[in-house]
Amino acid sequence: MIRTKAIYPGSFDPPTNGHLDLIERGSKIFDELVVAILCNPEKDPLFSVADRRRMLEAMTANFDNVSVDTFDGLTVDYAIRVGATAVLRGIRAISDYEYELQMALMNRKLQPGLETVFMMPAEQYSYLSSRLVREIAQLGASIESLVPELVAQKLHEKMDPAHKFESAAQSDRKSKSRKKKS
Ligand code: PNS
Repeated sequence: MIRTKAIYPGSFDPPTNGHLDLIERGSKIFDELVVAILCNPEKDPLFSVADRRRMLEAMTANFDNVSVDTFDGLTVDYAIRVGATAVLRGIRAISDYEYELQMALMNRKLQPGLETVFMMPAEQYSYLSSRLVREIAQLGASIESLVPELVAQKLHEKMDPAHKFESAAQSDRKSKSRKKKS
């Protein structure tokens, strides 16, 4: 029996509802899907690779055939190392196409046996990007419908460290009041 294993490489800084939508779609067409976070020393990320990994692991915990990993170096080398035969990438709009096509063709040149599979996220995520989410969060607008709840929480903590203590105090108050009632 042929089992298809794919990698879904990206920066995921932070992971968004668009990424999750694509992971769900990918998990339905591949037997195994590895969400692969690039450890890119040139970029100055908002979240550490460890944080992004934790967020993605929590987001994908309900998918039996999805795992999360990190890699550095070439995507094609990583794909071959883990035994994947396909690279999953999302295309939101025509503006993504040129960059994605260039990357897919270069990857094909480097590793002809590896296929790139493009999928479209749901329409409501077609304008969503990690860059915009970072910008919006930094400028104080609501990001609640753009990212999963735990990512929103992490973003709030990044932007305002006091938020962490406020959330901790809130859940402490809730658990005390539950104890009182019982
Ligand atoms: O989420 P992103 O930032 O759009 O993901 C881009 C990514 C990680 C897929 C791309 O930068 C990549 O594959 N980097 C690894 C290095 C590599 O293989 N470069 C050649 C690509 S043709």
